[in-house]
Amino acid sequence: MKILVASSIDKDALQTLEDKHNVTKAFNANEAKLRTIICNQEVLIFRSGISLNREILAAAKKLRLIIRAGSGLDNIDLAYLKQQDIPLKRIPGPGAVAVAEMSFALMLSLARQIVVADTLLRKGRWAKNELDGHLLTGKTLGIIGAGNIGTRVGGFGKAWGMNILGCVESPASINGKHFRDHGFDLVDMETVLKTSDFVSIHVPLKETTRNLISSKELSFMKDGSFLVNLARGGVLDESALYQYLTQPGGLAGAALDVHNQEGEGKISPLSQLTNIVLTPHIGAMTIDSQRQIGQHILRIIAQFN
Ligand code: MLT
Repeated sequence: MKILVASSIDKDALQTLEDKHNVTKAFNANEAKLRTIICNQEVLIFRSGISLNREILAAAKKLRLIIRAGSGLDNIDLAYLKQQDIPLKRIPGPGAVAVAEMSFALMLSLARQIVVADTLLRKGRWAKNELDGHLLTGKTLGIIGAGNIGTRVGGFGKAWGMNILGCVESPASINGKHFRDHGFDLVDMETVLKTSDFVSIHVPLKETTRNLISSKELSFMKDGSFLVNLARGGVLDESALYQYLTQPGGLAGAALDVHNQEGEGKISPLSQLTNIVLTPHIGAMTIDSQRQIGQHILRIIAQFN
């Protein structure tokens, strides 16, 4: 089969695909390149970092299967796929665990000023007396988007001795039920923001969630609270965040793994602040999760053959 691998995947899975199929690799290619190379491909494997718009998909006349090697569907024209009846398989499970763990890595990093401590120590500064931090234990963890990933974050929070609150777009949904079944409190978003010491965002990016957390929502957050975004950059208004990270009585800190502008050479204005931790969309990037995703890809392709 002719397979276009448009984003990096586990190297062993990629090797197996290359041994058995006609594979074209084009990681994070631009629109013009994708439109050219996709023409005669039968299978497309992709992740975040590229945009699969209608023009690109329309050029893929031979496409019979699309595999999303992960979760998010914000970078592909779903309406067009539906029209064309091209099957799309997602593999959301393995990355969810990694993203949930990353939420804790970022919360702990903020609470204990780990990046600041490391930066100072490398310069010879022994800033022990300036680096007092916060406990997570006993604090309230608020989850915006208490779905697959959010519920796992809640589970980790419980083990950490935190009080867990969450909200979902529609509380009657399966996500809401799942979260409640774990014994966590499902409330509205305003209550989550007003009550939590740590807020972790886990909603997909779509029309109803674009700029979901903007100036008004940030104004609800407790003075000295912390915000973590592992969802998508478009969900959070970064200029409003800048303001709330720099004004008196605003947030104590924020950590972003996803950004309005992503990719090589992009530097956010937020990088000027010391009370922010920035990582390059590595939430799902554990060797374990990517290996599992790779195995899923091989199974999906074997069954499709
Ligand atoms: C995902 O949606 O699965 C994550 O953003 C991981 C990725 O594609 O890089």
